[in-house]
Amino acid sequence: MSLCRAYNKASVIARGAYGQVRGPLPMLGHQRCVMKMFNETNSPEGDPIREYNRHQAAYEKMSKKCKRHMTRPVYVNGKITVQTHAASRSTERVDTLQRFTDKFHSNTNVMNALGKEVTSALDCVLALGESGLSHGNLHGGNILVVYTSPDKPKIKIIDWGGGGASNNKTMAAFVQKRIRAKRKNKSRSR
Ligand SMILES: Nc1ncnc2c1ncn2[C@@H]1O[C@H](COP(=O)(O)OP(=O)(O)O)[C@@H](O)[C@H]1O
Ligand SMILES: [Mg+2]
Repeated sequence: MSLCRAYNKASVIARGAYGQVRGPLPMLGHQRCVMKMFNETNSPEGDPIREYNRHQAAYEKMSKKCKRHMTRPVYVNGKITVQTHAASRSTERVDTLQRFTDKFHSNTNVMNALGKEVTSALDCVLALGESGLSHGNLHGGNILVVYTSPDKPKIKIIDWGGGGASNNKTMAAFVQKRIRAKRKNKSRSR
């Protein structure tokens, strides 16, 4: 089946800034993949080949122990990139970090486990940044949380098409700010 036909048949996972993400579907030897279709745009961040190349470079450069925080780039053709799905099994759920913290901010065990995982993933991204490849668009929508049980979250960093200045500090501040704001709202509503 052609890439476009497979894309048209797959379910929509998300509509993002530069197009749509669809899947999961088995492709090119991987059981679970997603396809990202890019809208026509002149901005470099909207270029699928650039995103695929940056994703591939990041995946290759990541140390062995950090690869667990990555999805695997698989293929690019025309306006479509293919990468492995963040969840390796259909029994796993996937949320953005944003959605996950909204759901579980009041659960201390979950937040502690999440903190450790986020730290581990950010250490990996920082190490990569030090070796010259910054993510460039790190925020709560580009960090996925994969879990069957929320107290055992796994973090995957996606969307490597950015390329501006590294903003890892912004990410750490984002998590802190979000947890603080939720706690404040909760104590106000008591
Ligand atoms: N590999 C993946 N596995 C599961 N979901 C994904 C994957 N890649 C993207 N998504 C979903 O699609 C959304 C948009 O993807 P993203 O690559 O961030 O696109 P955009 O450039 O539009 O922000 C993500 O927030 C996530 O919900
Ligand atoms: Mg994104």
